[in-house]
Amino acid sequence: MKILAVETSCDETSAAVLEDEKVLSNIVLSQISHSRWGGVVPELASREHLKNIVYIMNKALEDAKVNLNEIELVAAANEPGLIGALLIGVSFAKSIAITLEVPFVPVNHIQSHLYSSFIEGAKPDFPFISLIVSGGHTLLILVEGYFNHKILGTTVDDAAGEAFDKVAKLLNLGYPGGPIIDKLAERGNKKFHKFPLATVKDSPYNFSFSGIKTSVLYFLKEIQFEKKASEMLIADICASFQEAITESLVRKTLNAAKEYHIKTITISGGVSANSELKRKFENLRYKGYKIYIPKKDYITDNGAMIGFTALLKYKLSPDKNYFHSESLKETAKPRLTTI
Ligand code: KG4
Ligand code: ZN
Repeated sequence: MKILAVETSCDETSAAVLEDEKVLSNIVLSQISHSRWGGVVPELASREHLKNIVYIMNKALEDAKVNLNEIELVAAANEPGLIGALLIGVSFAKSIAITLEVPFVPVNHIQSHLYSSFIEGAKPDFPFISLIVSGGHTLLILVEGYFNHKILGTTVDDAAGEAFDKVAKLLNLGYPGGPIIDKLAERGNKKFHKFPLATVKDSPYNFSFSGIKTSVLYFLKEIQFEKKASEMLIADICASFQEAITESLVRKTLNAAKEYHIKTITISGGVSANSELKRKFENLRYKGYKIYIPKKDYITDNGAMIGFTALLKYKLSPDKNYFHSESLKETAKPRLTTI
């Protein structure tokens, strides 16, 4: 089955073509226009998606050497995300599905991160613990089967990626902050300063990252940090901050795995690209844990993970008619009222 999948939930415009589980192409355009604002501007994101989506889809089809009329299933991320941005991907993908008379499968963006660890890799042994760490979400999930998810914990304030982005802003490093901090931290001393862990009182699996961010802010004030600070000082702060975040993520995930007697852990979402986080989780392999991390191309937002999850969802769905364009047309009938 040839699949066209679209991802527009935040600031990446992406389209991918898959043949069953095999990714034939995965085109990602990261919108750079947000960097001067230090964060994603929703209105700008929607306009960029609108401008680029057709080009990105054509490029994905071209790279995959597949014609649009060969597509047998269309998918798009439909939640959660910036509503204006999601609407562009969903409306675009639905229109194509209706025109081609093929099924349309809406995909939850977070679920697609969860399953992204298995693209071009081994399949999971259920149950497993899944840590999803992105720019908008931090979730610790017990996965007992496909789409059988029990949320054990989440963030009570900032998401892990958001904390990286905000601290990078405090240090005047640019956006997105995660990859920049990761790079600078390589040369820094992670024991330079002890920032607090992301604990929440009486809540073993919830995270709170705003405390770490505030503590970085106070620390910068205390040392009278200036824009022209030495590279070494910046590297040390980055390494110490990264240590606090990654240690919090690993500890809570490991506690959950121990409590539920589970030896398989997956990590996914943009922050799972972090080298220190990966290193900490990979070390758990020596303690008998099976660790799954997505391949590089499928870590930050991308269309392939949407297509991969859509296929799983479609295959496992007992009512395939639900996804077909005939029913799409029907549900699209507006209820008109006359005054
Ligand atoms: O999953 P993603 O692409 O988009 C969302 O669904 O939010 O994640 C983006 C987030 C950003 O906050 C970015 O700073 C963070 O992932 N990120 C990283 C790294 N690469 C991306 N955080 C830490 N270290 C990295 N290497
Ligand atoms: Zn994401």
